[in-house]
Amino acid sequence: MAKRPTKEIILEKALKLFADKGYDGVTVRDIAAEVGIRQSSLYKHYISKQEIFDTLVDTMQSRFMDASATFQLPSGEIREIAQEYAKDSTDILKKISSEIFHFYLKDPYASQFRKMLSIEKYKSKEIDRIYREVYIDTAISNQAQIFEEMIKQGYMRKADPKIMALQFFAPIFLLLNRYDGIAEKEAEAIEILGKHIEQFDKIYREGGNKMKIAIIYATKYGCTKKCVEILKSYLQSDVKVFSAKNSKIDVSQYDTILIGGSVYMGKIQKEITRFCKHNLKQLLKKRVGLFVCCYTPNGINGFFETLFPLELLNHAFYVTCIGGEMNYDKMNFLYRRLFQSLKKIDGFNEGFTEPKILEEEIKALAEKSLK
Ligand SMILES: Cc1cc2nc3c(=O)[nH]c(=O)nc-3n(C[C@H](O)[C@H](O)[C@H](O)COP(=O)(O)O)c2cc1C
Repeated sequence: MAKRPTKEIILEKALKLFADKGYDGVTVRDIAAEVGIRQSSLYKHYISKQEIFDTLVDTMQSRFMDASATFQLPSGEIREIAQEYAKDSTDILKKISSEIFHFYLKDPYASQFRKMLSIEKYKSKEIDRIYREVYIDTAISNQAQIFEEMIKQGYMRKADPKIMALQFFAPIFLLLNRYDGIAEKEAEAIEILGKHIEQFDKIYREGGNKMKIAIIYATKYGCTKKCVEILKSYLQSDVKVFSAKNSKIDVSQYDTILIGGSVYMGKIQKEITRFCKHNLKQLLKKRVGLFVCCYTPNGINGFFETLFPLELLNHAFYVTCIGGEMNYDKMNFLYRRLFQSLKKIDGFNEGFTEPKILEEEIKALAEKSLK
């Protein structure tokens, strides 16, 4: 195995000594002795104890940056980061916070560094500044920026983003102190952390991305309209609903667009086809869910391909039949007669069951829309 550079070993030993005895309690001689070299040899690598300390601070920062890359934190423009967080914020926040927590609790370098700073911060103004910067200010201000953008984009309810960041981090710091030195209880700490994040998410996400959903629909006898009302109730307030006949729908304003109509003689309403075609390019950049009211059950091969453009079908996060209703009393005479006659034909009746609205499917569509 290749020998580790002495410069690196000096840092490691110095950190351990600083964490145990404090900065003032350690001399260059102590560090050299711990490494197993002469004091004069140590000075070939570092000109002073202060330089060792400064290098430790820099190393800690780059070590955290390297670790962050493996946490797979959303990166890029703040706008995109906020959108990444918004996709499934509970899971993403849980994952990130437990990884950061694990890093600070278990990474030998990080935990000793934290220990050293917490001892020394009372003795040195400079260390106190670093402690606040590394552990508190940077974390809070970065998170506040993300929350601010999420509020701006409508993913979170309006509140002071700095206070939100404080509320988000305070339990994490508290738990870090609570479980410090009992790393074997990490699982217990992470469970509490997960619950904290779920609750935080619940408080601030209510009234968030619901603003950004549009439902576009077409109906003949009112069944699809009724289903849209049910869908809206599962999504809760502030969802915008449009008739596909409305030519002024601005797709760009929404993140999630749900499009649905009903089926007559194997075809969906013309206005739905027109809407999909006309807005196809924009829709392909959005989250799209497709639904139809009809008597054809889910799972019939090639059925949706006759109703929606193939590109949109492949792009959609969910495509479903949500059942239907045969409103015989609203139908015109011809249609009523048509179905009365068809039902007398065995071949038709075998494949036909009176449709019902499938509330479970509507609920599934709503749940997937909110993810
Ligand atoms: C004349 C007529 C033709 C229909 N054709 C089909 C069809 O080809 N395939 C199908 O699955 N459902 C068909 N249906 C069922 C409707 O799609 C269903 O009743 C739906 O709930 C109607 O929704 P709406 O009231 O929103 O228009 C038909 C219904 C009628 C009255």
